[in-house]
Amino acid sequence: MEMNQPIGRTPLDDRPDGLVGKPLDRVDGPLKVTGRAPYAYETHALANPAYGMIVTATVAAGTITAIDSDAARRAPGVIYVMTHENVPAQGEKKEQVWPQLQGREVTFYGQPVAFVVAETFEQARAAAMLVAVTYDKAKPRGLLRDRLAEAYEPKPMTTSPGVKPDSALGDFDGAFAQAPVKIDVEYTTPTQIHAQMEPHATIASWETGPDGDGVVLYSANQMPNRGQPAIGSVLKLPPERVRIVTPYIGGGFGSKLQAVPEATLAALASKVIKRPVKVALTRQQEFHVATHRTDTIQRIRLGADQDGRLSAISHESWSDTAMGDGFYETSANVTRSLYAAPNRVTKHRMVNLNLPIASSMRAPGEAVGQLAFECAMDELAERLNLDPIELRIRNEPTEDPEKKIPYSTRRLVDCLKAGAERFGWDKRAKPGATRDGQWLVGLGVSAAARQNPLKPSSASVRLGPDGVLVVRMAMTDLGTGTYTILTQIGGEMMGLPPEKVRVELGDTNFPKAAGSGGSFGAASAGSALYVACDNLRQALATKAGINSDEAAFADGAVKAGNRSAVPFTDLVGEGLEAKGEIKPGDMEKKYSQYSFGAHFAEVGVDMDTGEVRLRRMLGCFTGGRILNAKTARSQAIGGMIFGVGAALMEDAVIDPRYSYFVNHDLAEYHVVAHADVPDVDAFFLPELDDKANPLKSKGLGELGICGAGAAVANAIYNATGIRIRDYPMTLDKVL
Ligand code: MOS
Repeated sequence: MEMNQPIGRTPLDDRPDGLVGKPLDRVDGPLKVTGRAPYAYETHALANPAYGMIVTATVAAGTITAIDSDAARRAPGVIYVMTHENVPAQGEKKEQVWPQLQGREVTFYGQPVAFVVAETFEQARAAAMLVAVTYDKAKPRGLLRDRLAEAYEPKPMTTSPGVKPDSALGDFDGAFAQAPVKIDVEYTTPTQIHAQMEPHATIASWETGPDGDGVVLYSANQMPNRGQPAIGSVLKLPPERVRIVTPYIGGGFGSKLQAVPEATLAALASKVIKRPVKVALTRQQEFHVATHRTDTIQRIRLGADQDGRLSAISHESWSDTAMGDGFYETSANVTRSLYAAPNRVTKHRMVNLNLPIASSMRAPGEAVGQLAFECAMDELAERLNLDPIELRIRNEPTEDPEKKIPYSTRRLVDCLKAGAERFGWDKRAKPGATRDGQWLVGLGVSAAARQNPLKPSSASVRLGPDGVLVVRMAMTDLGTGTYTILTQIGGEMMGLPPEKVRVELGDTNFPKAAGSGGSFGAASAGSALYVACDNLRQALATKAGINSDEAAFADGAVKAGNRSAVPFTDLVGEGLEAKGEIKPGDMEKKYSQYSFGAHFAEVGVDMDTGEVRLRRMLGCFTGGRILNAKTARSQAIGGMIFGVGAALMEDAVIDPRYSYFVNHDLAEYHVVAHADVPDVDAFFLPELDDKANPLKSKGLGELGICGAGAAVANAIYNATGIRIRDYPMTLDKVL
């Protein structure tokens, strides 16, 4: 099925109180909490694996003059030490998957320079410490701020080739010059680390068969079908010869959208030693070997009339990534679709530095773009002496202001109003006017918007003689609840209870699926399953001699009108199978598709220390049909909490002398803990988006983080009357 027209009435509409939408507990929860869900590093299917440990560069730029690995090779249990001198031949870089151990050049601190393989983890780790690398050091290429003169216009991202880095409409310069009210502000956001619970891990098994070579990677990977050609390119294997198995993933937030070096190194070592090789990144290596969210510098200019109607919007963003890489942070993309104004500019520029590869982290672009833009809107409201919600209402567009097409749905104003009501926004006072003992108290608001993509996905379903529906696809569950929502969709479509649905994910031997990323996972995979079930319903109806338009599916049986129900088990024989496929189509060209929301935050700021404490937070969102009330809320509040971290604490500090992240562990890179979030809640307004996909749902995974930190920042301003434009807003900046 291709999304070329709006979706009419569906079986999901017929039973609004059905399984879809219910707050079903995670079906994989018991497996996980009892330790029976095999994560990548715990896959015991392979006998006798060897253990790998990565040795990383301790300089950010320079040349390896010598690697002395003799002591490591002689250490107990060591099987193999791989360096640039003996690494097997590799193919080309594809996307952000790079060949490893290529020559003497070092371009970032943490670059793998050797890979030690031994009989046990401890032996590999001990031997890795014996590898002595000497460098001819060069001065690393400093910080983004110091390199702005060489910033260049990036190429469109390979993942969305149609989206240009710059846009312009009308006459921004003229309109801005004439605007009676204007602001021109610069916001900065720091480098951030995904800090997902499960580190990157892979068990690689190189296999040589009669048809040639192949590799099986038990590897934590959000998008295994995207990984196949990329890893295949580096390993010189056709995509179908790369099998990725990833049934359970302990979080990713984008860091596992593609393979990081551990998978490549394990595969190469397995090829050489003809034995499975198992490796995980250490927590410290997560900071330097894996990817991060780049820091940004963002300049925002807004011009408005005295009533707050925007005539001119400009949003420019600078970001950085590794040498030789083209990833840039699309901070200003969402600004193209957020508020009305006839004259507009967005611009992205990037530089290459001696740092690890920057890549996607939860809501790449929108998350940091709205950290800046939604504060700039707050600044404009303050200048106009206008309520910030009213300012947003006055600039609500009737169509997408740059694409010039209608929104599929847009309930931003409803979210702002409903959230304000429930939060008690009317209690907001002038900046610095509310005190609670030694705390200055403030309220802040922000809009949230995140694009809603649909990606090609396919699924197979099979109804067995035992009456169980088995769903298969190479989709993943990051911990977000994919197994659960697919159980609900399959069960609801077929009239089966959750116990009669078994969902099997995370294996590239299954039908190709979108994977988890970009807030497209649930809609894309769920729609493929919907189509597969629709096809299975038709097959069952035909077997029962029923016109499929009249067929009703309930209690494991099909019936029509007042005819008696025919149990599936009478119809399926040895088992009845169907397939389904979803593809994006015209609907994404004809309609601007976003999920929307509004964040409300209350903070206290200690008058003596400048310490900021979140007191409460509320989000109101729309995301089309909610597939599971519990997992949807978890996604929303999880994103909001992530946004609180972005506002108040997350910051991977780069030492410009050495170009490395100083605070490269979770003791010093602070993420939000329970004590930081006393009271957080989220709710959804009812919505169905018939332009989005057959489920009429929209992406939610990243919506919660979009704008969340800006609401906190705006609350800090309301509490103190001090505007901070440099994230995170730590107490040294507040004082
Ligand atoms: Mo996301 S940053 O596409 O996991």
